[in-house]
Amino acid sequence: MDPPAAPKCDVAPATASAYLDPQYWDQRFAQEEHYEWFKEYSHFRHLILEHIQPTSAVLEVGCGNSQLCEELYRDGIAELTCIDLSSVAVDKMKKRLLSKGYKGIKVLEADMLDLPFEDECFDVVIEKGTMDVLFVDSGDPWNPEPVTVSRVMAMLEGIHRVLKPHGIFISITFGQPHFRRRFFNAPTFTWSVEWRTFGDGFHYFFYILKKGERSSDNSEDTEKIEVLPSISLFHEELDNEDYLFRTNLDEM
Ligand SMILES: C[S@@+](CC[C@H](N)C(=O)[O-])C[C@H]1O[C@@H](n2cnc3c(N)ncnc32)[C@H](O)[C@@H]1O
Repeated sequence: MDPPAAPKCDVAPATASAYLDPQYWDQRFAQEEHYEWFKEYSHFRHLILEHIQPTSAVLEVGCGNSQLCEELYRDGIAELTCIDLSSVAVDKMKKRLLSKGYKGIKVLEADMLDLPFEDECFDVVIEKGTMDVLFVDSGDPWNPEPVTVSRVMAMLEGIHRVLKPHGIFISITFGQPHFRRRFFNAPTFTWSVEWRTFGDGFHYFFYILKKGERSSDNSEDTEKIEVLPSISLFHEELDNEDYLFRTNLDEM
C-alpha cells in the first residue's frame, strides 16, 4: 500500500506522537488561527442538536482554535465553557470571541485529565478530536499501552464526574467502536453508549454517552461493529491531518 500523502498543512508534525507534547500545541497555535479537526459543524450539527437544549450547560474539552463553540452559541446555546491545555489557544480564543461579541462563552486553561470543576455541573460535555490525542502512542490499538489506558480513563472519569446525573458526553472522533468500547463500557461508568457516523463516506464517529442510562445489553453496539469496514479504505479521502489519527488495520 502507498504511504499516506504528506500533510497539506505547514503546522502538522512529522510524527503523530508530537500531538502529546503541550509545547507542540502552543507553537502551533501561535501560528495558526483556525483549524477544524474532523469536519466542520455543518456535518454533524443535526446530531448535536438532538442532544443539546438551549438551557444546557455545556463544556467543550480541548477547544484548540475550532469554531465549534461559536457555532453552538449561534444555535442558541448560551452557557458554554471551553478548556484547553494550551495557554496560547486559550488567549487567542478569548480574544477571538471578544472581538465577535460572544462575551458569554468562558474559556479556561485546564487539563482534561484533571478537570477543575465541581461534580455534576454540566448537562453536556463535548470533545472533538481531543481524546484521539491520547491514543497517538498507544501501540497496539487492540491492547493499548498501560499509560494510554490510564490517561484515557482519567479523562473519562473526570468527564463522568462533572456531568449532571442525566448528562450527556458527546465524543466526535476517528476512534472506531471496537477500540473505544473497552473504555466507554468500563464498569465504573453509568452511561449508555450509542454511536452514529457522519462524513461523505464512513469516516467519523459521533458517540453519545448518557449518564445514568447504562443497560447490561450492548447488542446494538455489537451489531454495528460487524458491518464496519477497515478505516484504511478511506484514508485517501480524509481531510488534511485527520489521517494521522487513523488506525490502519491492514498494517497490523
Ligand atoms: C486535535 S486538537 C482538536 C481541537 C478542536 N477540538 C477541534 O476540533 O479542532 C486537540 C486539542 O486538545 C488539546 N489538548 C491536548 N491535551 C490536552 C489536555 N490534557 N487537556 C486539555 N486540552 C488538551 C490541544 O491543545 C488541542 O487544542
